[in-house]
Parts: sequence; C-alpha cells; structure tokens
Amino acid sequence: MKTTISEVYKFVDQEITIGAWLANKRSSGKIAFLQLRDGTGFIQGVVVKSEVDEEVFQKAKTITQETSLYVTGVVREDKRSPFGYELGVTNIEIIHESVGYPITPKEHGTEFLMDNRHLWLRSKRQHAIMKIRNELIRSTYEFFNERGFVKIDAPILTGSAPEGTTELFHTKYFDEDAYLSQSGQLYMEAAAMALGKVFSFGPTFRAEKSKTRRHLIEFWMIEPEMAFYEFEDNLKIQEEYVTHIVQSVLKNCPLPLKTLERDTTILEKVKAPFPRITYDEAIQLLHEKGFDDIKWGDDFGAPHETAIAESFDKPVFITHYPTSLKPFYMQPDPNREDVVLCADLIAPEGYGEIIGGSQRIHDYELLKKRLEEHNLDFDAYKWYLELRQYGSVPHSGFGLGLERTVAWISGVEHVRETIPFPRLLNRLYP
Ligand code: 4AD
Ligand code: MG
Repeated sequence: MKTTISEVYKFVDQEITIGAWLANKRSSGKIAFLQLRDGTGFIQGVVVKSEVDEEVFQKAKTITQETSLYVTGVVREDKRSPFGYELGVTNIEIIHESVGYPITPKEHGTEFLMDNRHLWLRSKRQHAIMKIRNELIRSTYEFFNERGFVKIDAPILTGSAPEGTTELFHTKYFDEDAYLSQSGQLYMEAAAMALGKVFSFGPTFRAEKSKTRRHLIEFWMIEPEMAFYEFEDNLKIQEEYVTHIVQSVLKNCPLPLKTLERDTTILEKVKAPFPRITYDEAIQLLHEKGFDDIKWGDDFGAPHETAIAESFDKPVFITHYPTSLKPFYMQPDPNREDVVLCADLIAPEGYGEIIGGSQRIHDYELLKKRLEEHNLDFDAYKWYLELRQYGSVPHSGFGLGLERTVAWISGVEHVRETIPFPRLLNRLYP
C-alpha cells in the first residue's frame, strides 16, 4: 500500500510503502536508523540487519543525505517518538542518489543558509514554520468566511500610494508610471461599499531601507474592510480574529510547535478581550520605564514597542495616535482634532506591531483637504474620493502582516524564516 507519512497512523502493524528523502541517518554494524521525510511529515525507519536482505541493509548503511527513495516497512506505534510511529523497514528502492548535499546536520551560518534557501526549506525547522504559516492562512479564510466576508483580490500594479510615497517601488507601465502595491486598502474600501465586509490577502511591497528582524521588502498582508464599522467595532473583530488564528495553531499544529520548542503557555493566554492603551498613556508608560527622550508626537521604534508589550501578557492595542504620524485617510477623533481613530496591535515578547488599522474618513471635503495637506496627486485618487460622493458611510479596516504574526506565534527570531523566499534589503536570490 503506497501512502504518506501523515497517513501512517491508519496502517499500524501493516506493511506500507512511502516515497521519501533521507534527512539523516545513524547506523552500527547491526542496525540503521533512517530519518525519513516526505513533505507531509517525518518518521524514523529502523533497518535491522538480521531481519532484511543483506543488499537492503547495505543500502541503508550507505545512502546519502537527501537521496530519494521508496521505503517499504511495517508501521509500529512508538511511544518515545514525538510523532508516535516508526517504520520497521523491509525494503529500500533508490529513486535518485543525492551527492554532496550542502546543508549537513552541523551548524551553518545564516548567509549560507539563506543562499541555500531552496534547499534549507527541507529542514525540520523550516517545515514546521511553513506548516504554521499555512495554518494561519487556513484559519484566516475560515474566520472571515464564517462571518460573511467576501475575499477580494487587490491589484499589485497601482497608480496610488496609501501609506505614503517614500517607500514605493517604481516601475513603468508602458508609457505611464506605476508602483508595486504597498497595501490593498483603498481598493478594499471600494469593495466594502459593494459587498459590505471584505478581505484581501496578497503580497505587498515596501522599499524600506530597514534591516531589522521585523522588516521584509515583500510581505503578505491580510486586509479586512467593513462598511458601517466604527472604531470600536474594528478593535473587537481584530481581537476575535487574532484569538481565532492563535488558538487554531495551538489546536492544529502541536508537532510544529514542539519542533520549534515554542513556549505555548504564553499563546494559551491569547484570548479576547485584549488590553488597550492610548498613545498618550503609552508615552507616559515609556517615561515611567526610563525612556526620557520620547515626547508627544514621536513615533515608536522597536525598543519602545517591546517595552510597552512587556507590561501586558497579551497583545496590546495602542490607540489614538497623533494625526501627524499616520496616513491621510484616518478619521480624526471627534473629541480631539490632533489624534485619529486608529489602533496598532503590538504582539508580546518583542515581536512588535502585527496590525495597523483605523476608521477611515468618510466625509468628502475632509478627505480632499487631507489629500491636499499630504501633497497627493488628485488625479490618482479621483476614484477614491468618489467613494465619498455616492452614499458614503462610516467604515473601518485593518492590515495584519502575516510574516510578523508567523514569527511571533512560532517564536522565531527573524521574519526571514517565516516566508518561503524572503526579499530583504540585500537579498533577491534565490
Ligand atoms: O501599518 P501598515 O503600514 O498598515 C497598512 O498598510 C494599512 N493600509 C493596512 C490597512 O488598514 N488595511 O501595515 C500593516 C501591517 C503592520 O502592522 C505589519 O504587521 C506589517 O503590515 N508590515 C510589515 N511586515 C513585514 N515587513 C514590513 N516591511 C512591513 N511593513 C508593515
Ligand atoms: Mg503601521
């Protein structure tokens, strides 16, 4: 019976065949332990010299790392392995011999591993991170579909810049100028007026000259947008959403979390409601923590966000930032002109901002004034302004950065490991 490692539990005490690669091996004169992987999982194959043909045992002893194989064996329950099963090997058929695989079980430097990203992805650790990334995507679709949201695809090539013009990738679009999308938000606002509750999920691009553990040049964002949602409604759905994806990973990815040695007690506490502090309170908190230099009107850097997050055991919303720090489209606080109805969600344990969101300006004149103040080209935003001319309604939305969220939930230090092929300041290969 040909099957996969993920399905072996159905065949206890039966003989099966799997297609696999040799990840690692240990052997003595009498027994060989093969660490096998097939993409769906990892299993140990045990080859006992006295129980197989001499030719099979010789193959087991000499096969090289990453050689592809068909392995036949009897599935046994194995209480000692985290996976719970092992394979008593009866036959090995080599498909393709791997010679000189560069990533050996010894330690390698980051640059070397990044140069070999196309191969590094095969490692147990990277496999675990990609499984968690996939679970976040799956549970995102589940959450929004269950709540009547419609998935809408935003364009990648655009003529307008939602998050400011300094970080745009420029390209030619025949004779016109175009930019790679830095956010699908403006298009989601149009879609929310057509479909009520929508979300996009796609790649976004920022030509940021930042070389930190939180910055990618190309990253994936989930951007929900909801008609008739005001500031408070927006925060509520965000905390429900983050609770859902964290609890889904805990439930559906126990093995990847174990592989990554993730301390899950912190994740178990991640349940709505989340604490909230205003920007004003955050400044005060930072002063109390000894950040004397920061003053009202300054943006928070990574050390500030980390210090604020340390005061809470769940993600924390920082709300009501100064208008001057945020993009043109955010709705001002009706009680206070100098702050906007926005919130950033800061993850625990130093992972920083994972969500940025706000209520949007729905008044035509105010939005026009803001575009002027930001020196933005009216022609490019004509369609966006028109959304405020034909039955404009209060609406809100947010963007969750997938890679930062994967990094936090996986407990992985740097976002470069959370996307299959990272685009970084100095990396476009492979
Ligand atoms: O805060 P940002 O810039 O917000 C927006 O783009 C809004 N238009 C979203 C919306 O309201 N629809 O980005 C949102 C999130 C951040 O909180 C962060 O998680 C992630 O995107 N992000 C990055 N992730 C990796 N590398 C970068 N360079 C990132 N820049 C933002
Ligand atoms: Mg932001």
